[in-house]
Amino acid sequence: MIKIKKRWEIPESEVTPEPLYRRRREFMQAAGTIGGALLLNPWAAAQASLDIGDYRKKAISIDEEITEEADATSYNNFYEFGTGKEDPKRNSKRFKTDDWKIEVSGECEKPGTYGLEDMLRPFPIEERIYRLRCVEAWSMVIPWLGVPLGSILQSFQPTSKAKYVGFKTLHDPVRMPGQQRYVLDWPYREGLTIAEAMHPLTLMSVGMYGKTMPNQNGAPIRLVVPWKYGFKSIKSIVGIEFSEAQPQTSWNMAASGEYGFYSNVNPQVDHPRWSQKRERRIGEIFKRDTLMFNGYAEEVAELYDDLDLAVNF
Ligand code: MTE
Repeated sequence: MIKIKKRWEIPESEVTPEPLYRRRREFMQAAGTIGGALLLNPWAAAQASLDIGDYRKKAISIDEEITEEADATSYNNFYEFGTGKEDPKRNSKRFKTDDWKIEVSGECEKPGTYGLEDMLRPFPIEERIYRLRCVEAWSMVIPWLGVPLGSILQSFQPTSKAKYVGFKTLHDPVRMPGQQRYVLDWPYREGLTIAEAMHPLTLMSVGMYGKTMPNQNGAPIRLVVPWKYGFKSIKSIVGIEFSEAQPQTSWNMAASGEYGFYSNVNPQVDHPRWSQKRERRIGEIFKRDTLMFNGYAEEVAELYDDLDLAVNF
């Protein structure tokens, strides 16, 4: 079979595998002791829960300047750690993600509770440079590390009744102090149609800028759906549920007139309280035009051929 390259895929010849650091277990065996491992690899101490191992450098890319890492990791939306943009970085410093588990349930042949590393082990990790456009009209360009969500979902063997996939963030008000206030109906929930979830652009991300995922960006595992408003890209996922009915989603539950289930980036459909025509790229002064489907129309528009996007916003 001849594989036709999509315009966002980089030729195989330009994809160079880059060893990030060794698999932690192997490393610890080699080092002999945990103390030794921490000494030789201080970073393993800060983020011990996931090894990224080798990844395919830039499997998918766009030709735009990458947002400064310092900006992408200090200007965040993560209400579990506070509602201010600087809160997530400050309040998630001690958030531990060791021994992370994900419960897979609903319409699939292989439900169960999976350890993060077991779930990801079969899949190579890729680097993908994606735009992320927030509903609040700012955007960033981030080099994510991750695995196509579809590959992971296939491994759970969804049944023919699986029309949607729902996701849940950890609910633990002690570890996530923002949950001590009723800002949203916790836990944070999101969902996709099965076609959106299986689309090759949809990424389960475990890192960015060549490192494991910072806490404030959704450690240890989060979704990245580049053609949708940023709030669809749910962070710190502990639950995946296949369902026949459309799952509830946090922002839709909070304000259904403002946030729909689809939430595709669409400059032609304004938010009731502000325009979505333009956006501010973090790090830039002048605003730029927002692109239909955040610039990914060529890849994803066909998913919505039968939908009126003004009604299904
Ligand atoms: N996931 C959870 N669990 N809680 C949140 O508050 N905020 C969302 C999304 N995922 C959010 C979340 C919003 S509004 C945006 S724009 C992106 O995360 C921001 O991701 P970033 O901080 O990595 O840029």
